This record gives sequence, C-alpha cells and structure tokens, in this order.
Amino acid sequence: MNAPLGSRGSPSPAIEAGLAGVYERCLPERDGQVATYIPELATVDPEKFGLALATIDGRLCARGDSETEFTIQSVSKAFSYCLALELLGREEVLRHVGVEPSGDAFNAIVFDPRTQRPFNPMVNAGAITVCALIYRVLKDDALAFVLERFSKAAGRPLRVSEEVFRSEAETGHRNRSIAHLLLNVGAARQPIEPALDLYFRQCSILVTASDLARMGATLANIGENPFTGESVFDVAAVRDTLSVMFTCGMYDYSGNWAMDVGVPAKSGVGGGVVGVVNRQLGIGSYSPRLDAKGNSVRGLRAFRELADEFGLHAFECTNYGSELVRGLA
Ligand code: DON
Repeated sequence: MNAPLGSRGSPSPAIEAGLAGVYERCLPERDGQVATYIPELATVDPEKFGLALATIDGRLCARGDSETEFTIQSVSKAFSYCLALELLGREEVLRHVGVEPSGDAFNAIVFDPRTQRPFNPMVNAGAITVCALIYRVLKDDALAFVLERFSKAAGRPLRVSEEVFRSEAETGHRNRSIAHLLLNVGAARQPIEPALDLYFRQCSILVTASDLARMGATLANIGENPFTGESVFDVAAVRDTLSVMFTCGMYDYSGNWAMDVGVPAKSGVGGGVVGVVNRQLGIGSYSPRLDAKGNSVRGLRAFRELADEFGLHAFECTNYGSELVRGLA
C-alpha cells in the first residue's frame, strides 16, 4: 500500500495510522544482542523501542519510547561528514577519505589499496579521519561546533554522555590502532589524540528517536530544520552526505538495504537508525538489540515495513524523483 504522505500543513492520519501499524508489527521482534564491547552500552534496557517520523513541513509522529535517550554512536558519522565537507570543501575531504562502499565491517582495519585512504566516512577509519579534519580546522572548538550543529538539527540542546564517553575512551583500543594506522598512511596528521577524543565524544552524544527523525528531516529539507526554520547544513554538503549514506550507511549490509529499503540511512551500535527520504521526511528508530553487522534488528525491520507502507524506496514506481524533466515539458 502506498498511503499519501499528506500535503503541507494538513493533518496526517495516514502517517499516524501507518506508523502505529509498523510499530505494533515490529514490537514482538526480539532477535539480536545489545552491544557489549563498549561496557556502558551493555547497561541499556534491551526492550526499548521508539519510532518517529518527521516531515519537511514540520510535523512529528512518534510511537513507543521515542523520547528515550541513547548514544548516537555511528549515526553521528553522517552528520560530522556533512560538517567536514562544509568546513574543508569537497576536494580536500575527498583527498583524505574515499566514497566507495568497503563491504567490510564498520571497525575493519583496512584501507583502499589504491589510495591508501579509508574507503568511506561511514566506517570507523573514515569517521576518525573526518574528526581529524574537523579538529585540524577548529582545534579546541571542534566539539562545541559539532554539538551546536547536531543540536540545531535536532531542534534542542544535546549533550555528551560522560559515562559512555569514558567507557569507550578506556576500551577503544581498536579505534586507537586505526587512528595510528591513519597516521602511518598519511590520511591523518598529529596530534591524533584530540581527533580520537572528538570521535569518542561525538559518538557519545545523547539523542532520542524523535531527535533522529528531526535531524533526518533537516537533511531531507536540504539543510534547514523544518521545525525551527534554522539553516543548519550546507546544501551541497547535504547532497554528498546523502549519497554516501545511500551507498555506505549500513556497512556490509548497504547493498541489501538499498534493495529492500532504498533510503539513505545510518545506523549506530547504540541501537539508533536515521533515514532520509529526500524532500519528504526523516525517520528515527531506537531499539538496542543488534545483528552481527551492528545494525538494530528491530530498526531494520521497521524501516523495511515503513518503506513498504508509504512507498518510500527511492526507485519505487510511485516516486517521481527529479522535477527537471517534467519542468521542461
Ligand atoms: O567506534 C565505535 O566502535 C563506536 N563508537 C561506534 C560504532 C558504531 O556505532 C557502529 N555502528 N553500527
């Protein structure tokens, strides 16, 4: 069924009903395991499930634990990439991080053999490089900048969980190794510790499913938060970010995701997933049980069902896509 998404300003019974149905159908899904490799993440309630959808005309529909805070983790990588593109320009960022799907796990210690650069900004190696680039420009103001922009996208002030940050900083030996290899291949420069600190802190920012939906809607609305009217992200950077989310956002599940769901998305081991339907809406989900690839099991199912329910897939026959050709007629 392809329910209409409603017109600007109108109520949205179709969205409310569709979202409620998806939530109820996904609630019994209990497969997967909560992440434990960051000790603090093991303490979350595995039963939590929140689902939210935000339209680019500024309406939010939410179900379940949509206001429960959790750490953003890798979902942050999409937004910080967008900020790095704005700060350093596309060319400079591309000199340090590629845009090819790696087909590897998010924490793989592997670089593109041709360029000796991280494959893309959605895997840890690429995201740490992005943090190094942001740090290079902003130095000690980097975290405040990232927090401010993430907050503007969410439409409320966000903060870092010091507990999760400390937990990851103390146990993140693999990421520390990756950071030193980045120095070795010349993708990042010294000092690398502040870049790692920025990476661990940005991953520890607390968000809700509703925040993710609004952040997604800000990307869908070419960088302007539709709830506050504030300009948050650079338009050209949004286009590039969505492209990389589409091809690499779900790690070594990205190809399947493109086929099944067909929206740019990014997941995190905290259990969050953000999705963006270009020029239409943002979707946020939270459910902390993960599959072996580090993606939320219930979140994946909810996105699959939402895509079917509302016909969200980018290449769904009901989606018109670009207006250009029709505009020329
Ligand atoms: O670097 C890490 O291991 C975490 N801070 C983030 C990893 C993550 O969220 C991967 N996503 N599925």
